[in-house]
Amino acid sequence: MSYRPVLIGFMSVAVTIFGFTVARPSAQTAAGKMAMKAPMSDDEYSKTMKQIAPTFQSLQKNNTAMNYGDAAKDAQKLEAWFKDVLAYWEAKKVDDAVGFAKAAIAAAQDTSKALEAMNATGLTDAQKALGGACQGCHTAHREKLADGSYKMK
Ligand code: HEC
Repeated sequence: MSYRPVLIGFMSVAVTIFGFTVARPSAQTAAGKMAMKAPMSDDEYSKTMKQIAPTFQSLQKNNTAMNYGDAAKDAQKLEAWFKDVLAYWEAKKVDDAVGFAKAAIAAAQDTSKALEAMNATGLTDAQKALGGACQGCHTAHREKLADGSYKMK
């Protein structure tokens, strides 16, 4: 009758302390990261697109070859890069480009989900949506120069 309440009291104190030590630094780190990460420069943007292109090709090849483990890694990389692309256009306040970047992120996420669920129809749809986001944004905001390189418009 005497030690039980003490034990329960001790446990709830321990849980409270544990909850604090775990939750607070991670919340601070997340906030710190958001505040510190500046949008990409135009140069970094171009480099990101040059990584996105071969990864998108790799994703399509892996899907066709049913290399779903590697395909999932490609989809994750694309999602992360398109989040940087989204931040770039949000900073510039270009609404349609923000929309295309969001569509690309959603399509990369749908790709991951379809791969996990082994959903072939979902995978085809997600790939089409991703390709559509590339094209839509390029038509509106990418200009090909005479030397074959690209710039923003
Ligand atoms: C939200 C807009 C947007 C989306 C979505 C987007 N792009 Fe781009 N992309 C651009 C812009 C703007 C440029 C031109 C600027 C540049 O090249 O730096 C570009 C350039 C490129 C280039 C040329 C890079 C260079 O400088 O030589 C490639 C390749 C490319 N994109 C591939 C892709 C692929 C593949 C996808 C889809 C999987 C995609 N992009 C999705 C906006 C987008």
